[in-house]
Amino acid sequence: MDDEWICGRLGEDEPWVLGAVNPPVFENSIFTFETAQELGEAIRNEDERYVYWRGTNPTVDLVQRKLAALERGERAKCFGSGMGAIAATISSLVSAGDHVLVLGAVYGPTTQFLRYLEKFGVTHTHVDDLAGCDSAIKASTRLLYFESPSYMAYAVVDIAEVTGWARERGLVTVMDNTWSTPLFQKPLTMGVDLVVHSLSKYIGGHSDLVGGVVTGPSRLIRPLALTEYQLYGAAMSPHDAAKVIKGLRTLPVRMAAHQERGLAVAAFLEGHPAVRAVNHPGLPSHPGHAIALQQMTGFSSLFSIVLDTESRDEVGAFLDKLRYFRIGVSWGGFESLVNAPALSTEESVRATMGIPVGLARLSVGLEPADALIKDLGLALEGVGRLA
Ligand SMILES: Cc1ncc(COP(=O)(O)O)c(C=O)c1O
Repeated sequence: MDDEWICGRLGEDEPWVLGAVNPPVFENSIFTFETAQELGEAIRNEDERYVYWRGTNPTVDLVQRKLAALERGERAKCFGSGMGAIAATISSLVSAGDHVLVLGAVYGPTTQFLRYLEKFGVTHTHVDDLAGCDSAIKASTRLLYFESPSYMAYAVVDIAEVTGWARERGLVTVMDNTWSTPLFQKPLTMGVDLVVHSLSKYIGGHSDLVGGVVTGPSRLIRPLALTEYQLYGAAMSPHDAAKVIKGLRTLPVRMAAHQERGLAVAAFLEGHPAVRAVNHPGLPSHPGHAIALQQMTGFSSLFSIVLDTESRDEVGAFLDKLRYFRIGVSWGGFESLVNAPALSTEESVRATMGIPVGLARLSVGLEPADALIKDLGLALEGVGRLA
């Protein structure tokens, strides 16, 4: 079945009650059984049977089936946030004494979570490339974690090359695929073992929910669903699941519009004298563009630019002048957003991460591209004049 059908109708073929076009939202925390024996059997298989909302729920289950199909995975498990999915996934794969390789820049709280795991005897090393992996791998290395495109810099990782390297060394790979959505990139088909997403971005699409998902083979998802999912209690609510279903219905058309608008805005910025660099893997000038074309079928609209300045005040003034880009965290919604690490991240952290002062992250929404370009053009006037 192709992706557009999965987004729209998969798992929803049966007529819902009264001919409703949307599935019902199962709002109950518990499910009951005819006999005690039936309850016992359901509890032993609580990853698949409806017993209690913290385990699973029919509305959440429907989302899981749709997301697994879209990602080409056997099973998916949804969480109350992307970080819930990431934390549970990493914890399910490591034990005290194990080591994790982190390839390229990843979402800040993912790194914070790995630091948190140090108190349980799990260590990690950040590396830039496969040569770095070669130097940093240890006998205790179990897991290789990465994002592609990478966080904030939007560097492209050659997914098949990395998973080949990891497989030869017996490592499990986990990749955060939030940037592309499963519509534009399918890492499981390129050898990744488990794929995580924040559903709070493009998949939700309306900035009205927080959610996460992990997808992969049943042999890895089942233990996680029975243990970390249940014990961390980061369950997705059926109301948020219903919103994800609505987000999925329009995902293909929204992503096509995000792609078109994002590329138009990026191309404008690339030619602007007040902009030193545009980090968008969809631009032919991007160093990872050729690999991106091999492993992705489209580009989302989150990217970064480097303003021609070393002044935090000038970066702040640029943000303040924008009218259509609202200042805020997160991304992937219908509304355009802007954020700048120099203003929102501690100076020492920004410098350690190698993020330039002038870096601004843009999430291009669904407003007309010409209005966004005009807005950016006006805000860029004067940037670079403070020496
Ligand atoms: C790349 C990436 N992964 C994961 C997350 C975490 O998702 P959530 O905010 O749903 O916990 C984020 C959030 O910004 C993100 O940008």
